[in-house]
Amino acid sequence: MSQSSLVSVEFKGDVAWVTIDNPPVNATSTGVRQGLSDAVDAVKGARVAVLCCAGKTFVAGGDMSEFDAPPVEPHLPDVVQKIEDSEVPFIACMHGNVLGGGFEIGMACAWRIAAPGTGFGLPEVNVGLIPGAGGTQRLPRLVGMQAAIDMACSGKILKAETLAELGGVDRVAEDPRAAVLELVADLPERPIPVSQRAVAEFAPDLLEASREALKKRAKGQKSPLENLTALGWSVEPFATAQPKERARHLELRQSPESRALRYAFFAERAVSKPSLIKGVAARDITRIAVVGGGLMGAGIATAALNGGLSVTLIERDADAAAAARNRVEGLLQGAVKRGKMSEAQLRDRLAAFRAVNSYADAADAELAIEAVFEDLSVKQQVFDELARHMSSDAILATNTSYLDPREIFADVGNQARCIGLHFFSPAHVMKLLEVVVAPQKSAEVVATAVALGKKLRKVSVLSGICDGFIGNRMLAAYRRAADYLLADGALPYQVDRAMRAFGMPMGPYELQDLTGLQIAWANRKRNAANRDPNERYVTIADQLCQHERFGQRVGKGWYRYEEGSRDPVRDPEVEALIEAYSDQQGITRKDFSDEEICSRLLAVLANEGALIIEDGIAENAEAVDMVQIHGYGFPRWRGGPMNYCNEIGISRCAANMLTVAKESPGSWRLAGQLENN
Ligand code: NAI
Repeated sequence: MSQSSLVSVEFKGDVAWVTIDNPPVNATSTGVRQGLSDAVDAVKGARVAVLCCAGKTFVAGGDMSEFDAPPVEPHLPDVVQKIEDSEVPFIACMHGNVLGGGFEIGMACAWRIAAPGTGFGLPEVNVGLIPGAGGTQRLPRLVGMQAAIDMACSGKILKAETLAELGGVDRVAEDPRAAVLELVADLPERPIPVSQRAVAEFAPDLLEASREALKKRAKGQKSPLENLTALGWSVEPFATAQPKERARHLELRQSPESRALRYAFFAERAVSKPSLIKGVAARDITRIAVVGGGLMGAGIATAALNGGLSVTLIERDADAAAAARNRVEGLLQGAVKRGKMSEAQLRDRLAAFRAVNSYADAADAELAIEAVFEDLSVKQQVFDELARHMSSDAILATNTSYLDPREIFADVGNQARCIGLHFFSPAHVMKLLEVVVAPQKSAEVVATAVALGKKLRKVSVLSGICDGFIGNRMLAAYRRAADYLLADGALPYQVDRAMRAFGMPMGPYELQDLTGLQIAWANRKRNAANRDPNERYVTIADQLCQHERFGQRVGKGWYRYEEGSRDPVRDPEVEALIEAYSDQQGITRKDFSDEEICSRLLAVLANEGALIIEDGIAENAEAVDMVQIHGYGFPRWRGGPMNYCNEIGISRCAANMLTVAKESPGSWRLAGQLENN
């Protein structure tokens, strides 16, 4: 008997099989909720009902596209309750992922049987929400408070095997349907519904201690704490606590944090499908060459090996090749030590890897990524060699940070096969990949680069060519604005404190100390001749470099570092240097509040982002925001600077930018989007 096109009910003897079929992930959209509600009525008369899903997965979440509109009946908590209250007990038969609403449905069933490796989780926290259909109330009753905190406050996905140990799954079976039939054949007494169970005793200070730990980790994001609060309600009767959970869930849907996180979720998917490559088939790349095995090359090679590619790493000589091999092995072994990789996987990866000092070994690679010194002629020589040894349609990519790829590839005959692949350090960890596209692009090459990025588990964002591409160009504007603040009265620790409070993992000065001040200094020197003479140029960073204060690596930069420590300590020498600079410039230093610092720097980021879009370097605001989130640690729960600017209002952001522009006349180009507001 069919209930809705998305949920069907079929009787096999006295067993009713209820199947959800709502591709791609069987989300709990309106039709599924209605179908399930009808199904509970339809199974009446059966001895037992089995709830399963067609396709690759059980219900793997809600339909986020419905979250912006008012909720439509039947509401999920009512459907979940109806399943739990059904006279006919339900067995959940699960595979793939059981997430969010799917897990809430699963917990309302009398028994849970899952295929090995099935993933269970409440990922609502990742989109700024708490579950709204009993998830935070049933989970602690099912698996205990500690495990419920671990899952709901982080969105962590547990495998069926682990959940079974915690009592959350009754049986893990290679063939879950067969296991269901075995259970049905000898059906035990129906267990007490999860909502009616008591939460097992837990340490009295567990909630408070978890709150402190979460606060530290969340860096301003509220949803982990919201989940903890809701979990705490589970010691109250379900009938009073669950409506509180539902009400809070609905309130949070309207919160800026949830809006930002949902925006980021969709933006992440959208940027990997830019209009330039819609419908364009990509080549499948399986063998790559990486030239240069230093910091970046070793990270890139590791990312490629982790993505299942075979990698030939080319270095200058045998010693450098051996050093590069050690670096890559070290990174892979690090993953084994942290339990992220098995010994067998390590062996597979090493078997797919060789480090050499001859370009002839790159002959069979389909794509090469160059990561040698940031020097135009060195890079040109590398591509000369690669072009001679590789096939004429092999893709040639540079990881340059600041050089113009058109100059790097000037002597390569076929420019259409050339591209920039700009990774971020550490390249095997950071998720951003800027795919730098020159005017003579081939859409097929771009599509191939994006597909390669996906294999390497990167978020690929297309960038046109300009100084610093999207990310480092924004970083340069951000740092320039921060330096103006220093010159006008702020100190590095204040700027860093303000940006951390906003949710950045680090302020701009701590970050410079961490990554080193030299590369940006070299770039400033290189560009000195082209600098707009009207632009205000603050020399404080240059002075630090002249004093060899290059950052953490040498124990001093914007801060001082005790031997062996990474904790920045305010340095009176630097602060005196800053004050002396203001003095020399005739500037009367003034006080900036943390809020003023923050609003100025964010306005500058949004302005530069808007200019980058106006200049045709980035396709849209989503691209800019993804660069900031995945390359620079901009808080995801703020959605990126462009989303943040929209959230606070473009006119407010424009007013902040005008203040910045007035304080340093001649130094800022205003984006049309802000200027006209
Ligand atoms: P690095 O100095 O750590 O490594 C460069 C490596 O290239 C060295 O191992 C060197 O032996 C090798 N090399 C030099 N000339 C070579 C040649 N002709 N043939 C083969 N190998 C050669 O430098 P790093 O930091 O890895 O940077 C490499 C490139 O990546 C630069 O273009 C840099 O601008 C870019 N980049 C750097 C980032 C960073 O955070 N360090 C981030 C993104 C890009």
